[in-house]
Amino acid sequence: MIKYLGSKRRLVPRIVALVSAIPGARTVLDLFTGSTRVAQGLKGAGFHVTANDLASYSEVLATAYIATDAARAPVADWAAKLEVLDRLPDVRGYVTRTFCEEARYFQPANGQRIDAIRAGIDRVAESPAERAVLLTALLEAADRVDSTTGLQMAYLKSWAPRSHRPLVLRMPELLRGPGVATRADAGEFVAAAGPFDVAYLDPPYNQHSYYSNYHIWETLVRGDAPEAYGIARKREDCRSTKSAFNQRPRAWDALRAVVEGVNARHLLLSFSNEGFFTDAEIRRLLDDRFGEVAVIPVDSPRYVGARIGIHNPKGERVGAVSHVRNTELLFLAGPDAQEIADASGARKMGAALTASGGR
Ligand SMILES: C[S@@+](CC[C@H](N)C(=O)[O-])C[C@H]1O[C@@H](n2cnc3c(N)ncnc32)[C@H](O)[C@@H]1O
Repeated sequence: MIKYLGSKRRLVPRIVALVSAIPGARTVLDLFTGSTRVAQGLKGAGFHVTANDLASYSEVLATAYIATDAARAPVADWAAKLEVLDRLPDVRGYVTRTFCEEARYFQPANGQRIDAIRAGIDRVAESPAERAVLLTALLEAADRVDSTTGLQMAYLKSWAPRSHRPLVLRMPELLRGPGVATRADAGEFVAAAGPFDVAYLDPPYNQHSYYSNYHIWETLVRGDAPEAYGIARKREDCRSTKSAFNQRPRAWDALRAVVEGVNARHLLLSFSNEGFFTDAEIRRLLDDRFGEVAVIPVDSPRYVGARIGIHNPKGERVGAVSHVRNTELLFLAGPDAQEIADASGARKMGAALTASGGR
C-alpha cells in the first residue's frame, strides 16, 4: 500500500470492529477512501463496500482492491502481464525528465522504468479492472523507491536509501468478493447514491490539498504530460484544483451537506483535533441529523513530515516541531441510543482508546 497522509492504517481494526458491532450492517460507503485501507479492511471483513474519492489514483486503487473480485478475476494472466511489463526496455519520458531530472523524487533509472511501464500498460490492458490492477502495481512499486517523506510537495535533500533499489512490480493482493469504486465529489455522490447501512467519512481536515500532495500519482494514473511548476514540479492544474474541504470558509458547508445528504442509517466519522472544527461542532451536526452520537478519542502520531520538522528548500531546519501526537476522534452516529452505546463500547471501555505507531 502507498504511503498516504491521513491514512487510517492504524485505525482499521478499530473501525472494522465498530462497523461490525452495528446490528444488521452489511453495506458500507467509504466516501473519502484515499489509500483504500479502510475500505479494504471492511471488504476483508465481509462487508459490501462502495469506495469513493475525488482523486484518479484513489479510483484506480479502489477499482483494484474493492471493485475487483479476486475469486473471479484472471489473476494469473495479470501477474504474467506484470512480468512482461517489468522486462520492457527503458524509456526516458515525462516522468524521468520532470520528476527525476528537474526534481529528485526517483532515481533516473527508476524513472525510466516508470515511463516504460506506464506506456506499456496502455498497450496491454484489456479492461478497466486490468488497467487498474496494473496501475496499482506501478504506483506501489514507485512508492517503494521514492525519495520523499510520503508527500509529493517536496523530495528529500539527500536520496532516501530505498530510492537506490531497482523498481520491481508486484502483483497486488486482491480481495475476494464484490464491491464498487467511484470517483466523484463527496457532495455530488451522496446526493445521488444509497442507501447504505453505514457511511464512513474521513474528509480532509485542513488546508493541505491531496491533489497537490499526490500530484505524481495523479499524473501517473492519467498518463498525461502537464506543464509543471516550482521546485516540486507540480501539475499546472494544482493551482486551480481545490477541494472545498481544504478551504476554511467552505469546509463547514461541504461537511454539513454531506452529513445531511448521505443516505445511511449510521455514520462513522474520523476527525482530528487539529482540524478546522471543534468536536462540539461536529457532535452537534451529527446529533441534529442522526439523533445519537458517541465520541471515541484515539491518540495518534502526527505524519512523519511533522515529526521531522520544518525545513527550507536547502534542507536546513527552520522551525521547531510543536508536538508529535494529535488526537483523532471517531464519531459514531445513528438513531438508536442503545445501539450506539453498545457499538461504541462506551460503557465497557470508558473514554480513551490508544493507537500506537505511525502512518
Ligand atoms: C483523510 S484522506 C482519507 C484517507 C483514507 N481514509 C485512508 O485511510 O487512506 C481524505 C481524502 O479525501 C479526498 N477528497 C478531498 N476532497 C474531496 C471531495 N470533495 N470529494 C471526495 N473526496 C475528496 C482526498 O483525495 C483524500 O483521499
